[in-house]
Amino acid sequence: MGRKNVGEMVVVLVTLLHIWLVCVTASSLGNINNYEEHLRRNLLANGLGKTPPMGWNSWNHFSCQIDEKIIRQTADALVSTGLSKLGYTYVNIDDCWAELNRDNKGNLVGKKSTFPSGIKALADYVHSKGLKLGIYSDAGYFTCSKKMPGSLGHEFQDAKTFASWGIDYLKYDNCNNDGSNSTVRYPVMTRALAKAGRPIFFSLCEWGQMYPALWGAKVGNSWRTTNDINDSWESMISRADLNEVYAEHARPGGWNDPDMLEVGNGGMTKNEYIVHFSLWAISKAPLLLGCDVRNVTKETMEIVSNKEVIAVNQDLLGVQAKKVRMEGDAEIWAGPLSGYRVAVVFLNRGPQKHIDITANWNDIGIPPKTVVQARDLWEHKTLKTPFVNKLRATVESHACKMYVLKPVA
Ligand SMILES: *[C@@H]1O[C@H](CO)[C@@H](O)[C@H](O)[C@H]1NC(C)=O
Ligand SMILES: *[C@@H]1O[C@H](CO)[C@@H](O)[C@H](O)[C@H]1NC(C)=O
Ligand SMILES: *[C@@H]1O[C@H](CO)[C@@H](O)[C@H](O)[C@H]1NC(C)=O
Repeated sequence: MGRKNVGEMVVVLVTLLHIWLVCVTASSLGNINNYEEHLRRNLLANGLGKTPPMGWNSWNHFSCQIDEKIIRQTADALVSTGLSKLGYTYVNIDDCWAELNRDNKGNLVGKKSTFPSGIKALADYVHSKGLKLGIYSDAGYFTCSKKMPGSLGHEFQDAKTFASWGIDYLKYDNCNNDGSNSTVRYPVMTRALAKAGRPIFFSLCEWGQMYPALWGAKVGNSWRTTNDINDSWESMISRADLNEVYAEHARPGGWNDPDMLEVGNGGMTKNEYIVHFSLWAISKAPLLLGCDVRNVTKETMEIVSNKEVIAVNQDLLGVQAKKVRMEGDAEIWAGPLSGYRVAVVFLNRGPQKHIDITANWNDIGIPPKTVVQARDLWEHKTLKTPFVNKLRATVESHACKMYVLKPVA
């Protein structure tokens, strides 16, 4: 082998070593790298949604009966209750905020009778409280209520209008469209928002029709995986199930969305609402309150202000939990957290008064024989004994237990 060949060989080896190092580094950086990858692949690349969005939306409690006073008072209440400090910062207006007719330049206008000060003034008010304003439109000719126009064919103009008002979040619905594919209609708004001159969180609401988990990450920051939730156990638990199927596709910058919270609206028991909040948190779902936060009960506050459960949702690793074990009505949902910790929900979905549920380390991704400390997130207690190989819990009907498991060094 000549000197020149040796030299080339060295170059090749160094190059191979470099490639190997890049691969190893990339895989060990895990989700930090995923986030950068996400930004590269996302047409919006708005840098938003590094953790699931938190805030409030008007629909579940008020449907179309909204006005600027309710939105302002809700912003006030998010601050005065301390909820905004816990991360609930988006104040999102849903359907029915605009006049049915655009102005003579084709712009959307706030409904004069209910939003007389205009949306820009509302955004200024909400921003002055340290919060963000979200708005709603539709990838069709009219929104679902048919009380206001949709943005189909007006995407660039409407995105510009939203940006000029200071809007921070857009929920984009799917009613009354032209029958074309959502995979075609939604990216038009993505491009429009990218050009609008303001980072706007883009929430795709096409109800999971065209499996947006498979393409949503390139188009928006979250995507609905289901039809609308309602304030019942059956609806809530079935949204969670449908959403779980797509767990692999959630990542920082792009989240599966099983729809907004019903906690505090009165249709479920306290334990059922605890299940609702726990499953949304561990599924890295958007935590968008859907109750009247101007008038929340102590019980509702206790649920939605659970810092430890919120911390699971907002963990920077950003990996959605999966069902790892199902036996009749007993289920275990688990997912990894930063710092080699694991979040677990033990769920009794059935009528049986008590079920004993055991999570084996095998099921939940902890190496065998690892000694683990268990923190009960609803009792706010660290269990006295460390655990090896498994953890058992007794769970009441339509209730759950939620833990963070941390290896003991
Ligand atoms: C919608 O688009 C997707 C992806 O391009 C395609 O797989 C699907 O068949 C389309 N569906 C309809 C109803 O056109
Ligand atoms: C709520 O949803 C459930 C399950 O999806 C359905 O059976 C029920 O009829 C709905 N209730 C209302 C009031 O729409
Ligand atoms: C607040 O809630 C109470 C009880 O749930 C109800 O009686 C009252 O009308 C509510 N107030 C407002 C302003 O909604």
